[in-house]
Amino acid sequence: MRDVAIIGIGLTKFGELWEQSLRQLTAEAGAKAILDSGIEGKDIDAMYVGSMSAGRFVGQEHVGALVADASGFSHLHIPSTRVEGACASGGLAIREGYLSIASGINDVVVVGGVEKMMDVGGGAATETLATAADQEWESFFGATFPGLYAMIAIRHMHEYGTTKEQLAQVAVKNHKNGVNNPYAQYQSEVSLKQVMDASPVAYPLGLLDCSPVTDGAAAVVLCAADKARKFTDHPLVNIIGSGQASDTLALHARRDITTLDATVYAAKKAFSQANLAANDMNLAEVHDCFTIAEICAIEDIGFVEKGKGGRAIDDCITTIDGQIPVNTSGGLKSKGHPVGATGVAQIVEITQQLRGDAGKRQVKNARYGLAHNLGGSGATCVIHIMEAVSQ
Ligand code: COA
Repeated sequence: MRDVAIIGIGLTKFGELWEQSLRQLTAEAGAKAILDSGIEGKDIDAMYVGSMSAGRFVGQEHVGALVADASGFSHLHIPSTRVEGACASGGLAIREGYLSIASGINDVVVVGGVEKMMDVGGGAATETLATAADQEWESFFGATFPGLYAMIAIRHMHEYGTTKEQLAQVAVKNHKNGVNNPYAQYQSEVSLKQVMDASPVAYPLGLLDCSPVTDGAAAVVLCAADKARKFTDHPLVNIIGSGQASDTLALHARRDITTLDATVYAAKKAFSQANLAANDMNLAEVHDCFTIAEICAIEDIGFVEKGKGGRAIDDCITTIDGQIPVNTSGGLKSKGHPVGATGVAQIVEITQQLRGDAGKRQVKNARYGLAHNLGGSGATCVIHIMEAVSQ
């Protein structure tokens, strides 16, 4: 396996982007990443793009070809492939790009992620997202993702004494981080009282326990590490671990709904490849589609013991100056969650942090970072571990 470096990153603003089409969003993020990397079109061996449901959200399938077209390099006939794994589509696209370079097939790959969710309105967006749950056992009967994660939350509260206040503190922390992220959908703080008093969505989750519906795109340029210096003077960030795992689509079929085994297994694989452990990480972006999801993620990755995720929030372990800063970008909660783009945007944040370019939200002396991207209620998980390479 060859070492793989991240040499370019690009993001669009996340939010309600009525004036930009799916094509324009991919072109903007891709162009920013390519400019940042120093490569030219002729250097690109392949493109991968994560998109969950462009067909339902904006009536556009064939997103791989759309991205190659929108890039302005259609005359180069670069192979371009769409990857789908619900909200983990972006992370999976990163993994496909990474594997194609690590295996020696490609040297330079552009990976994008995009979703334009706002055009269809709230109800249709919820229905579209629910297609990633188990159609026969969950969505057919009216279960939505807020409802499924609410069941996980209730069980976590029952088993471990986790409180609604602790869930709310996750939102407070992530909104505080999002204030310093100019790309975030909600660059505003929320108080504990605001989160506690927000309109109920599915008890115990209220409006401010949920990630929003979002438009946006993200892109990165990956390169064989031994060729990276040909293109860029940026501090190099390498991907040193990539783990993927799956679980049952439906929650009821799991051994324990508060433990997302796909996360447990993906983390084990990524840590084993990197020859590191959870306590070696200096920061993490985890998939906080709902506040309970962040609590489960920090337990399942191994940052804290099972059942202690709520307490960890009380103890400020996951704040920017805490033992393991989590979701310095604002997370899905405040930055927004354009589902296909999310996994790629997480890699953008970790890269900025490991380059030392994260401005007011910079984690001091960060060497290792982890990105955790989840599909559905945890049926797909992909985890990447990155290292700032000193040269
Ligand atoms: N966080 C913060 N603010 C939010 C928000 C969120 N998640 N969702 C909406 N808002 C704000 C809106 O900006 C709006 O503010 P405004 O009145 O100042 O403009 C207000 O709250 C009402 O927004 P609206 O769009 O009418 O809310 P809604 O009730 O239609 O949708 C949710 C709210 C939480 C149901 C929706 O965001 C949702 O379904 N989120 C989950 C998405 C999801 O399941 N993703 C996949 C995860 S696996």
